[in-house]
Amino acid sequence: MSKKGIALMLLFVFVLSIGLMGCGSSQTAKKEVKMLRVGSDTAFAPFEYQDEKTKEYVGFDMDLIKAIGKQMGYQVKVQGMNFDGLIPALETGAIDAVISAMTITEARAKKVNFSKPYYQSGLAIMVQKDNKTITSFKDLEGKKIAVQIGTTGATEAKKIKNATVREFNNAPEAFMELKAGGVDAVVNDLPVNEFYLAQGGGSKYAKVVGKPLSAEDYGIATAKKNTELAKKIDQALADLKKNGEYEKIYVKWFGKKPAK
Ligand code: ARG
Repeated sequence: MSKKGIALMLLFVFVLSIGLMGCGSSQTAKKEVKMLRVGSDTAFAPFEYQDEKTKEYVGFDMDLIKAIGKQMGYQVKVQGMNFDGLIPALETGAIDAVISAMTITEARAKKVNFSKPYYQSGLAIMVQKDNKTITSFKDLEGKKIAVQIGTTGATEAKKIKNATVREFNNAPEAFMELKAGGVDAVVNDLPVNEFYLAQGGGSKYAKVVGKPLSAEDYGIATAKKNTELAKKIDQALADLKKNGEYEKIYVKWFGKKPAK
C-alpha cells in the first residue's frame, strides 16, 4: 500500500472510532439522570426539617428545590449539613447548590451566586413568655442572646451594644437555651420562630416580640463559577412562578398566597 493509502486508512479508522465514541457517550448521557446535589441545614422548620415518621426531609425549601429540579430535568439529592458549612461545601464542589432559608447578603454574594429571591423574610426576637422587659431590638442591649452560628441573626446580634452572643449549631439548640433560661432572647428568622411557637410546642414558654428587624430575601446559592447552573435555576424558578406551581407550594406551607 502506498504511504498515501495508509494515511487515508488511518484517517478513516480514526474518524470511525470518534464517531463510535460519540454514539456511546450520547447513549449513556440519555440513560443517566442528571443529579443535583443540594446542601441544607435541615433543622429549620417550616423551610427544611426531618419528618419524624418517614425520616424524609420536608418543608417549603424541599418542595421548591424538588420542583425546580424536575423542571430542569434533574434528580435532587439533599445532603444535611451545618449551616456554616454550606458555602464552603459549594466552594469545594462537594455540592452543587444550597437551599437553606439562606438570606441573600452582600458578603455571601462575593463568594457564591444567588438565584432571584424566592421568599421574603426578616429577623425577630423571641423571649420567654413572662418576659416584660424586652419588646424591641433596643431592649437587647447588655442582654444574653442565643443565635445560630453563621446566620444573619448572629451578625445582627453581634452589633447590639454590650450584648453577650451565644452561638449554637442549629436553631433548635438556641431555642432550648432560651427555654432553659440560659439566655434572655433568641434572634432568628421570624417565620421559623412563628412556626416553632405554633407547631413545635414553643408557645408553652416563649413568644415573639417587636417588629421584624430587617427585610431579608432568601435565595438559592450556587458556586461562583457555575453560572450555567445559576441560570437554569433562575429559569426554572421563573417557570414555576408562571405555571402556578410555586404558589401551590407556598400556600401548602404558609396557608396564604405569596405577596406579589
Ligand atoms: N436566613 C438566615 C441566614 O441566612 C438563617 C438561615 C438558617 N437556615 C437554616 N437552614 N438553618 O443567615
